[in-house]
Amino acid sequence: MTRQNTALWLPKRGARFEVGPAPYTPPATNEVVVRVRAVAVNPVDGIPGFLYRFALPWLTFPAVVGSDVAGEVVETGPGVTRLRPGDRVLGHAFGVEKSQNRAAEGAFQHYVVLMRHMVCPIPDSLSFAQAAVVPLAVSTAATGMFQQDHLGLALPCAAPAERAETVLVWGGSTSVGSNAIQLARNAGYQVVATASPHNFDYLRSLGAAETVDRSSPTAVEEIVERIGDRPLAGTLAIGSKSLAKTIAIAARTAGGRRIASAQPALFTRVAGRRAPRQGVRVSSIWGGTLKDNEVGPAIYADFLPTALATGTYRAAPDATVVGHGLAHIPDALRRLRAGVSAQKLVVTL
Ligand SMILES: NC(=O)c1ccc[n+]([C@@H]2O[C@H](COP(=O)([O-])OP(=O)(O)OC[C@H]3O[C@@H](n4cnc5c(N)ncnc54)[C@H](OP(=O)(O)O)[C@@H]3O)[C@@H](O)[C@H]2O)c1
Repeated sequence: MTRQNTALWLPKRGARFEVGPAPYTPPATNEVVVRVRAVAVNPVDGIPGFLYRFALPWLTFPAVVGSDVAGEVVETGPGVTRLRPGDRVLGHAFGVEKSQNRAAEGAFQHYVVLMRHMVCPIPDSLSFAQAAVVPLAVSTAATGMFQQDHLGLALPCAAPAERAETVLVWGGSTSVGSNAIQLARNAGYQVVATASPHNFDYLRSLGAAETVDRSSPTAVEEIVERIGDRPLAGTLAIGSKSLAKTIAIAARTAGGRRIASAQPALFTRVAGRRAPRQGVRVSSIWGGTLKDNEVGPAIYADFLPTALATGTYRAAPDATVVGHGLAHIPDALRRLRAGVSAQKLVVTL
């Protein structure tokens, strides 16, 4: 069958996005092609041209960017047995990754090539728009929490034993934080999370036991007190200024003094430079590295499908659909730059 594809092209660094025809790329070994029904937008999708040199220096143009996909499998390549045409799925698209650097794998098009182990079937009760909020956020949270070079926590599972340790999620109402709280709970950890007070109920609904105002001048003391004698298994630091605060907390608590930072590597290096003197180890997350180790399949193939189907894991935060059609994605990126709170901006296709 001949399939007509259309993409939102980024013709060159710093140029405007343009909707135009794109080749349909059939799946190679261990790949699937998904007819995209919804995409979510992330800060990295809309960075200004000059920042590409720092954030994605390898990216070749014209490019198709975007990471968050939900849709239907239309074709599977050799080696794919877990997924079939017609399956409703969400998936992390890796077109801008250094190892891929391929327009066919960017989310912002009608037919996208995905890696089989970074695709997760979704229940009928979950809309494509809501499912699209998950991929980059869960990948980033999982990379930071479960990779051995970051926090190295125990993986989530269907019936986790309660653990004595606490995980701190600074920036709990972000998309990454919303997934981090749920992953930590599903691995049996107690969670302390920060956000603005209007999001406290939201954090609790995701499983946080303790919530603290991230802007409070006494946030560090409050968190140290709430953690109490429980060992801190590790910290996920999300958002600007999160590192100074979380380093101070980690230095004053018992247990794992490891912080995984979702801020760009350069910011993490600068903000984390004093950490070793306080006995704290800070590492910088790149939310795509889990595709190359055991964490990617542990989340997308082993954990998420059942957790989403049984409702023990929620596609969070709530999706706000900004429009229908590729041409609405630049609007969504503009709205994202203006700021969102506990929501993910989505475009349906
Ligand atoms: N390293 C990677 O691979 C990677 C991948 C994805 C994202 N990221 C980064 O992770 C961060 C979160 O991204 P996202 O898409 O999850 O965000 P998002 O959903 O767009 O974040 C919105 C939330 O940010 C919170 N917020 C604003 N300023 C904050 C601050 N200074 N500290 C803590 N929280 C703050 C707000 O919380 P309240 O309204 O409750 O105040 C709001 O709910 C961004 O910096 C992003 O660039 C990194």
